[in-house]
Amino acid sequence: MTAQTKEPVVPTLLTPVRLGAIALRNRIVMAPMTRDRAGPQDEPTDLMVDYYRQRAGAGLIVTEGTQPSPAGKGYWRPPDIHSDTQIEGWRKVADAVHAGGGAMVMQLMHCGRASVGANKDPAAETIAPSALPSGGRIPGPDGDPQEPDTPRALTTEEISGIVAEYAQAATNARSAGLDGVELHCASGYLPMQLLSSNSNLRTDRYGGSAANRIRFVVETLHALADRIGADRVGFRICPGHDINGMNDADPQETYAALLKAVAPMDLAYLHLIHLRLTSFDPLALVKAHWPGPIILNNSMSLDDAEAIVAQGPADAVSFGRHFVSNPDLVERFRHGHPLAKLNRQTLYTGLGDDRRGYTDYPAFV
Ligand SMILES: Cc1cc2nc3c(=O)[nH]c(=O)nc-3n(C[C@H](O)[C@H](O)[C@H](O)COP(=O)(O)O)c2cc1C
Repeated sequence: MTAQTKEPVVPTLLTPVRLGAIALRNRIVMAPMTRDRAGPQDEPTDLMVDYYRQRAGAGLIVTEGTQPSPAGKGYWRPPDIHSDTQIEGWRKVADAVHAGGGAMVMQLMHCGRASVGANKDPAAETIAPSALPSGGRIPGPDGDPQEPDTPRALTTEEISGIVAEYAQAATNARSAGLDGVELHCASGYLPMQLLSSNSNLRTDRYGGSAANRIRFVVETLHALADRIGADRVGFRICPGHDINGMNDADPQETYAALLKAVAPMDLAYLHLIHLRLTSFDPLALVKAHWPGPIILNNSMSLDDAEAIVAQGPADAVSFGRHFVSNPDLVERFRHGHPLAKLNRQTLYTGLGDDRRGYTDYPAFV
């Protein structure tokens, strides 16, 4: 008898995969997208239940950025996860996604200084690593862009309190039935404000060297893992991005330090917004220091994504805008149907009818 050599199985976008404890029936992930349609108590509404139910064909849905505390809010009408009403709302969302066969993690997002005070509870302060405004413009309650607040610098003791808020949010997300959480360390929000040398001028153990600037994210990931298990915790990064006033002097040093510190934790996944930079390749940096599962994102076509999972630099690929206008993206991919175009005017609410551009994109017929 001759020994038989087995052909290696090349994964496709439709091949199931596990990210830590979370089983995905395919590798097409819905990227987190703020859509600003939460209810008056910052709770998910029935309309949001419909929106996520329509997209349950994704192997994994990452929810829109969800705030762990009133102070974490920066925009108008994003959902939160610190009250019973909010937990109940999220339970309906998670149930709908699970009934459709999907998995769902909650993206935990604290805006820090990228915040307009008029968008949040008047008692909620805008805080950041240092008292430096982010610049740029953020839409206020009437949709008109405003200058973000000048934040108050957090005290060292207050930073532990924020870590605890995230941990409680993870517990709340699990009690609402979500499969895990993703720590939003990208896009110039609080964790990235601590990572980046230009927004973090602190002189305590959270500022200065890369080892100090990564401390908040490392502590928060440990706190999340302690609460719900490391295999249900992911995190999202975008090394080198200048969004919301970010300008790290040496992102390669910062993120190499971060990845080395969290690599032994056996987290569920790393979610990379892959920018094509001239200075360095963020994916090469990640591959050099991160041994765990990777979800790759940014301006991908389905063909790009298919090549990525087949060739192996990532285990799954996330799509943002395609999922806005194609609730049945996975079925369109499976059958080779064309993709519908997005209407940018209705990405965020404010045009009078929340349903428009949200739950009224049809499936392909
Ligand atoms: C309307 C909209 C809202 C977004 N909100 C978030 C968010 O809450 N959290 C986040 O990490 N990224 C957010 N993003 C970025 C997306 O997750 C994604 O990285 C980006 O759209 C690039 O992927 P794409 O080319 O497939 O759309 C948002 C993008 C869009 C279009």
